[in-house]
Amino acid sequence: MAKITLSIIKADIGSIGGHIKPSQKLLETVSNYIKEKGRGLIIDSYIGHTGDDIAILTTHKKGPSNPKIHKLCWDAFLAGTKIAKSQGLYGAGQDLLVSAFSGNVKGMGPQVAEMEIEERPAEPFLMFMADKTEPGAFNLPLYLAFTDPMHNAGLILSPKVKEGFKFVIMDVSYTKVDKIIELKAPEEIYDIAALLRDTGRFVVESIFSRASGEQVVSASTTRLHNIAGKYVGKDDPVMLVRTQKDFPATGEILSPYTITPLVAGFMRGSHNSPLMPVKKNTSISFFDGPAIVSCLAFCEKEGKLTESADTFDHPYWDYVREQAAQETQELRRQGFFGAAMLPMSELEYTGVMETLKELEKRFKIREK
Ligand code: 13P
Ligand code: 13P
Ligand code: MG
Ligand code: MG
Repeated sequence: MAKITLSIIKADIGSIGGHIKPSQKLLETVSNYIKEKGRGLIIDSYIGHTGDDIAILTTHKKGPSNPKIHKLCWDAFLAGTKIAKSQGLYGAGQDLLVSAFSGNVKGMGPQVAEMEIEERPAEPFLMFMADKTEPGAFNLPLYLAFTDPMHNAGLILSPKVKEGFKFVIMDVSYTKVDKIIELKAPEEIYDIAALLRDTGRFVVESIFSRASGEQVVSASTTRLHNIAGKYVGKDDPVMLVRTQKDFPATGEILSPYTITPLVAGFMRGSHNSPLMPVKKNTSISFFDGPAIVSCLAFCEKEGKLTESADTFDHPYWDYVREQAAQETQELRRQGFFGAAMLPMSELEYTGVMETLKELEKRFKIREK
């Protein structure tokens, strides 16, 4: 059986009218670059956007973290940044935080989700892309899809799925090297929940089937402010999920997105927002949000991709989107107050810290 690598590498390299969407010319530049320069290196590719982020999906036989694949995408983003600058786009090169490529785009700004797979006779998988949020946004949907029979009927109906899954969770506050823990579902679901509730710190990096040992999920974990030391935009994540057979069905993976959980992001990356499931190539609007997630389904054979199926483009999700809009309104009614805005610990890389420093000088200790 052929071994194939699926790689998503994603970056915000500039946007029309603020943080709304990339220009058509920018998308074409990235797409043409990958097609021309990737010849002989990659098997197939798909390029799309969600909000102001451009994602490059490639299939190849080079394995994860391959310098040639990463350089191809990095250089495509550099070529795009030139166009973004020439068009006067906002935030040109926003996520390219390091000036020289050093073998792997991880830790350089772009988000990365990659998986090497032993190809099955049929290989369905999903490509998730989110904007105006952070990698922890996938924590709850993943927890529910892989541990809860309220969303995953396979946990009751399929013996292979019932064997459970291994979660690999990263502590993204530890920036020197990767710090991870492996936890097993179902035995350790309360421990998994105890970590995943803290979306700013603990993030699902990958999930494996316990029946076959195969990888099901690969999600991106980069925190941009940990690289830049200041706020440069949210860490809008990407994720790959394989589906069916020993893995949850596509609909089981999608099911938790009906909850539209509150996630961090939205305006200036500093607010809470319901996570709204959207159609492919959706742009951003109200209050630089709300936080959005798209999901494209593919099948592949020896690396050749089918066209994408847009999973959130269905009347059911119109209803969910309407509900998410209502929730968004409820939350926005209280503006900066309380739970609407993120806690100070999440704002520590923004300009509000200057204000607090100035105010601190004016505080006085009242003598009794
Ligand atoms: P500016 O202060 O550059 O307008 O940026 C605000 C913003 O959109 C944060 O990314
Ligand atoms: P992005 O992270 O999507 O660039 O958004 C930044 C922002 O500050 C929006 O208000
Ligand atoms: Mg942006
Ligand atoms: Mg973005």
